[in-house]
Order: sequence, then structure tokens, then C-alpha cells
Amino acid sequence: MNNFIYENRTKVYFGPGCVKEFLVSLIKDYDTVMLAYGMGSVKKNGIYDEILGILIKSGKNVVEFSGIMPNPTYRKVMEGARLARSSGAQIILGIGGGSVMDCCKAVALVAYCKGDPWENYWERKGVIHFEPIPVGVVVTAAGTGSECNGAAIITNEEKRRKTGYDYPACNPRFALMDPTYTFTVPKEQMISGAFDSLSHVMETYFSAPDERNVSDEISETLMQSIIRNIRMILKDPQDYGARSNLLWESSLSENRLIKLGKQCDFACHLMAHQIGAYTDCSHGQAMAVLHPVYYRHIYKSGVEKFSRFARNVWKIREQGKTDAELAKDGIDALESFIKVTGLPTTLRELGIEDQKELKEIADSCHYSPGSYRRILPDEILKIFLECF
Ligand code: NZQ
Ligand code: ZN
Repeated sequence: MNNFIYENRTKVYFGPGCVKEFLVSLIKDYDTVMLAYGMGSVKKNGIYDEILGILIKSGKNVVEFSGIMPNPTYRKVMEGARLARSSGAQIILGIGGGSVMDCCKAVALVAYCKGDPWENYWERKGVIHFEPIPVGVVVTAAGTGSECNGAAIITNEEKRRKTGYDYPACNPRFALMDPTYTFTVPKEQMISGAFDSLSHVMETYFSAPDERNVSDEISETLMQSIIRNIRMILKDPQDYGARSNLLWESSLSENRLIKLGKQCDFACHLMAHQIGAYTDCSHGQAMAVLHPVYYRHIYKSGVEKFSRFARNVWKIREQGKTDAELAKDGIDALESFIKVTGLPTTLRELGIEDQKELKEIADSCHYSPGSYRRILPDEILKIFLECF
């Protein structure tokens, strides 16, 4: 294991009824609550009414911040920060998926930060000790794990850049996770979110160190469970067991636990975020398009780990195969699984119409990512062309 420091200050309340049972006590110290949500799903499914009712009943001064779009923009963050300042919001309560949660964390950071927030906190990692406005979240969609980390992935439309760092100070103070709140998430988004969780585990697992370590063993269990629950949700989207497991697996995949002692890769995320900056595509769908192609590029530099992935996650029998053959079989199994889920497999399906756009997107991937092997913009372009 490499050295690490572990901190996660988000307190999680999980299970049906947790909002009704705990929200009042969690916000008792705050008079002015900024209630943040997305494009309206919470109004259709009744979650907004339920939460607003609790806030009004407990005498809170409620300031609404609505219309947070999927893949939240820096402009929206600035709008929220202005509102938080002018209203004197004492806590931001976000109801939604990764986009709402990320936007709330970003607003909490920006509202009282000094200097140019984009330059100082997104463009490069800024100071990590600061005190943002407290954030609490009610999770309505599984996938990103945003409820248990300090990352706020934001799209700067002017700079055509989508990025963010995990600042421990930005971890939500509490996360209320009622799996029944995810029942109305459309199947396509549910699968895309679940694949995002799987992707977080893979991006961590395929990185040094590779000698026996408990983080990798947890990751293998987590990947098998996510895959099993995705299969179950495909059969029955209302399966509570699968929904609740996927919701908690989403947190476990991105709450720093499996990253302890690991270098991490996140090359696919860097590429997917830049594709998102140009197309506004669904994040989980971009991960599905990129992963198999990226892994075929790099597996030879981590062949033993890729063969272990085939054996332990996909249960592929060795039958006298070499590590390289097994490694390829594992990537094939991942690709077949993606096809079964109905996730997209090409960049065209994500909205890129012309191959010529790909060079600019590849060049916009600012640093050379990769754990087993660094990849440069030329190779990123090759990967994009193969995904086209
Ligand atoms: O906007 P609303 O009306 O809320 O609708 C959303 C949105 O259209 C809808 N939805 C959410 N809960 C629902 C629901 N619809 C019906 N019933 C419900 N209960 O689902 C759609 C997608 O929501 P969104 O929050 O955009 O999805 P997701 O959770 O996948 O979040 C994606 C964002 O998170 C970032 C991504 O880059 C992307 O911007 N990520 C954040 C990470 C983090 N903070 O750790 C890590 C990830 O790698 C990722 O980058
Ligand atoms: Zn992700």
C-alpha cells in the first residue's frame, strides 16, 4: 500500500423514510436554507413538495435556486454564488443527482472565495483548507458518488473545459439517501449512472500499485456487484434490491475508500469530460464508449492486472490461455456487457457529427493522463477515431 490520509466527513442516512425522519434535526442550526434543484424532475415526482413542506413547517427562510442543468455550467455556478451571498444562505440543500450536488458544492466554494475561482480552484488544484457554506444533499439519482466526495465537475462553456478536483472541505455535511427516490429515474439514466460507478472502480483498479492490496480486492467485489445489479435492473427497473445496492455502490465507488494507497488512472474521465465540454453528452454514456477502446490501447502495459480482471470479475476460465489472451477476453467481456445494457458504443451517438471535431477535443485534453502508460493527444485522437 502507498501512504495515505483518509478523511470523509459526510454523514450518510440511508433508507426509505430517511428524509422525513432526519432532515429537520440536520438543519436545526440554520435559519436561511438555499434549496437547490435541477430541471424539474423533483417537482413531478413529489420530492420537492415533501422537502419544501418540511422546511416551511420548521420555520425556515427558503431561498430557491432552480434550473441546474445536467453537466452544470460555470455560469450557473456564478449565478448560484451571487444568490447565496445576497440571501445570506447559511446552508445549501441540494436535491438531485450528480449535477445538482456538484453545482451546490461549487456554489458553496465560490460564494466566499477570494480571487478568480476558476483559475484558483478548477484550472489547477487550489488551497485545500477553506470553509465553504455547508452543503447537505438529498440524492435522487445514483451513479457519480458526488454525495460522499468534495468534487464539483463543472463545464466552463467559454473555455470549453469540464473539470474539477476533490476538495475534502467541499464534502456535503450530510447525505440523505432514500432508494425509493430513484424509482422515477428513467432507465437510460439509471444505467448510465450505474456504468459511471463501474467506471470509477475500473479507473482506480487499473493503476499502481498492483501487488496484493485490500483496495483492489474491495474493487473486485464492488465491480461484480455493480454488474450483477445492472443486469437485475435491466430485467426489472423497479427492483428495490438492485436500486438500493446501486445507490450505495455509487457512494462506495467515489468516496475515496477504494482509492486509498492507489495511484488511480482517470484517463477515461479526462477524455469523457472534454467530450462533454464539446457535446454536453451524458457522462456515464461517454464512459461506456471510451473504456473498451482505451483499454485495448493500454492493456499490454498492465497485462497481469487485466488478466486478473478477466479471471476475478468476469470469471473467465484460464484454460491454458496466456495473460495477454485472458486480458483481451476480459476487455471483450466488458464490451459485450456494455452492448447488453444498451449504452452507446460510438461517439456519433453522443452527438459528434464530424470526425474533424475530434482533433480539437483531443488537443483540449490538457495533460497527459494514464497510470500504466501516459497517453498524449496524438494517441487520444486515435482512441477518439476508433470510437467514432
Ligand atoms: O435536472 P433534473 O430535473 O433533476 O433531472 C435529472 C437529469 O435530467 C434526472 N433525474 C435525477 N433524479 C431523478 C431524475 N429524473 C427522474 N427522477 C429522479 N429521481 O436525471 C438526469 C441526469 O441527472 P444528472 O444529475 O445530470 O446525472 P448524474 O447523476 O449522472 O450526474 C452527472 C454529472 O456529475 C458529474 C458528471 O461529469 C456530470 O456533470 N460527475 C461528478 C462526479 C463527482 N462529483 O464525484 C464524478 C463523476 O465522474 C462525474 O464526473
Ligand atoms: Zn464518472
